[in-house]
Formats: sequence, structure tokens, C-alpha cells
Amino acid sequence: MAVKTEQLYEGKAKKVFATDDPALCIVSYKDDATAFDGLKKGSISGKGVVNNRMSNYLMKKLEEEAGIPTHFVEEINDREAVVKKVSIVPLEVIVRNIAAGSFSKRFGVEEGTVLLCPTLEFCYKDDNLHDPMVNDYHIIACGWATREDLDIITDYTFRINEYLKNYFKGIGVDLVDFKIEFGKTPDGKIILADEISPDTCRFWDSKTHEKLDKDRFRRDLGNVEGAYAEMMKRVFG
Ligand code: TMP
Repeated sequence: MAVKTEQLYEGKAKKVFATDDPALCIVSYKDDATAFDGLKKGSISGKGVVNNRMSNYLMKKLEEEAGIPTHFVEEINDREAVVKKVSIVPLEVIVRNIAAGSFSKRFGVEEGTVLLCPTLEFCYKDDNLHDPMVNDYHIIACGWATREDLDIITDYTFRINEYLKNYFKGIGVDLVDFKIEFGKTPDGKIILADEISPDTCRFWDSKTHEKLDKDRFRRDLGNVEGAYAEMMKRVFG
């Protein structure tokens, strides 16, 4: 098993450590929560455990059942996992099945409107710029990814959406939208990285439409911990 060495990076929700294997890192999930590019700060008790366990579980399934290459290697404890070391493609890749959040605001489409087909957005990862939405031309012109990278990312992303939409439907949850990130391995392969969790997805109960994700924190809806615990229960029984 990889042994943790020095801390490489501390993000808003995770720390990343080097290991004695140069090809592997260890991610450690925190309970810290932020919103609005770090402007709103708080903590969600137990969130790190939920996000670590759920993300590991879903990445393993995506790899084994949908053929999507991911960074996940091994869960080492409730909050930590070994992952492949990648350079992150500096894009937030967002898929939407139902209108919500910034989509509803930007386009004036009422929250909850079922979209006629899934949509895809790329945002350039930079909090100071508020992660601006960018298109393929911006991405290629600025060197954030190549045409080939984007074609692979797009193919993986819609496959991930189909797989996850079906999976969550089976546990009584509508996958409204989500954000994923990709990384590049030293040998140039694009793989799914970062996390898939209630921090990065909108989950609505299929029957009641109750929000079971980080929107409860972003929008001060209360029972934030309860929502994370409910998602944990749905996934792990
Ligand atoms: P949005 O509607 O605010 O653009 O969010 C779309 C999806 O992306 C939603 O599932 C939440 C997720 N998301 C992140 O994971 N990180 C972010 O910084 C933002 C703004 C959204």
C-alpha cells in the first residue's frame, strides 16, 4: 500500500498528499464546505466521510461497469483514498438533465424543468474569475486541452451521465446535474479525477423532490448533514 509523505496541495474540500510511489497520491476529504467561490464558508459534519466513500464507490462502478478510466485506486480509510497522480485539466465539466442553479438563472428556465436532452458546459477553473463558462475554441486556443482531449472528455462525460442517471434512479434519486473533472496521466491518458459526491452533484428525491445535496448548504435550507446521511444510506443501505 502507498505510504503518505508530504502534503502537495490543500483545496477547499480536500488535501492531496504525495506517497512513496511517484505515480500515486492520497486524497484526504475534509468536512470544510465553501460556496460562491469560497466566499461562503462553513463545515458539514461527516461530509468528508460521505464524499470519500461515495466517490470511491461510484468511480469503481464506472470503471468496472461502464468502462470509464478513473483515478481511483484504493480506499484506505473513511476519509482517504489512494488515487493515480494526474495533472488536472483545468475545466469543470458540467452535465445537466434538469434545469437548476446557474442554468435556470442564466437562461430563465424554471428550476425543475426536464431538459429535452442532456446539456454539456465547460467552465475554466479559476475562482478569481468565478470559473467562467468557456467553449471549445477558448479551451483549445488557450491550451487548456486539445481537440482530441475534448472529444474523449465529451464521450466519457455523456457515458458517465447515462450510467449515473440510471444508477441513482434505482435508489430513488433524480440526478439533476453534476460537475466532474478530468486529469491526464504521465503517459497522456485522460481519466476521470476529483470526486462525485453531494458536493458536486444535485440529487433530488424522485418522489418528493427534496434536495439531498450541497444546495442545502449553499441556500441555507437546513438539515445539511441529514441530506448527506440520507444519500449515504441510499447508496450503501
Ligand atoms: P451550477 O448550477 O451552480 O452551475 O452548478 C452545476 C453543478 O455543478 C451542480 O451539480 C453543482 C456543481 N458545482 C460544483 O461542483 N462546483 C462548483 O463550484 C459549482 C458552482 C457547481
